[in-house]
Amino acid sequence: MIFSLPKSCVITLDGLAASGKSSVAKGIASALAIPYISSGLLYRLVALAALEASTDVKLEAAVLAVIRTHELCFEARVPSNLVWLDGIDVTALCHSTRVDLAVSVVAQHPQVRAWVNTQIRLLEPPFIAEGRDMGAVVFPDAAVKLFLTASSQVRALRRVAERSRSLEEVQKSIEARDAMDAINTQPAKDAIHIDSSNLNLEQTVQHALELIRGKLGGVL
Ligand code: DC
Repeated sequence: MIFSLPKSCVITLDGLAASGKSSVAKGIASALAIPYISSGLLYRLVALAALEASTDVKLEAAVLAVIRTHELCFEARVPSNLVWLDGIDVTALCHSTRVDLAVSVVAQHPQVRAWVNTQIRLLEPPFIAEGRDMGAVVFPDAAVKLFLTASSQVRALRRVAERSRSLEEVQKSIEARDAMDAINTQPAKDAIHIDSSNLNLEQTVQHALELIRGKLGGVL
């Protein structure tokens, strides 16, 4: 199903850790021929930069100093987003276990959130922005807002293949991150919820595309 979007169109896709947001956002982006923006990758970049600088990620001022003194770049390339730290592509490093552990702490800092939000708002639509608060906070006027959920067990099963840890460990760490991220995981009041526990990736993308088409039908 391919249809073209208005130039200024922003779609938001928020959801829980390991709910498949990135894969679903990529699927939607590719069907609609628009870029997708992973806001989580920007938080991961900040966490990695702080770790590389041996900074205590709990200290907001120290993390902000890292942002100021290093070159942090984000590229919304298709089909994958890339991030660069001081000219080096660190995208793969941003998905390591040490960054998984630090990123929730870094994402609690209000001024780090403000920095990430500024970077994302500078990008030119149309695009689909994926994260935790894209619909509620960053793009309150988005044309379509989706919120993706799945049970913690299903999410752990999906992520265990990407991490060299047991299913039980992965599920525990997902539940711990849900608790830490809860404060910043805000479904917009007007978001449409999709529970993907019993849907595979293709089915979730198709369902999301139907919802987008339904919502934007009038302007297409
Ligand atoms: O989606 P992800 O797992 O790559 O996100 C990484 C971390 O960043 C996660 O701990 C939640 C946080 N995050 C956030 O607080 N707000 C966003 N908009 C996106 C991610």
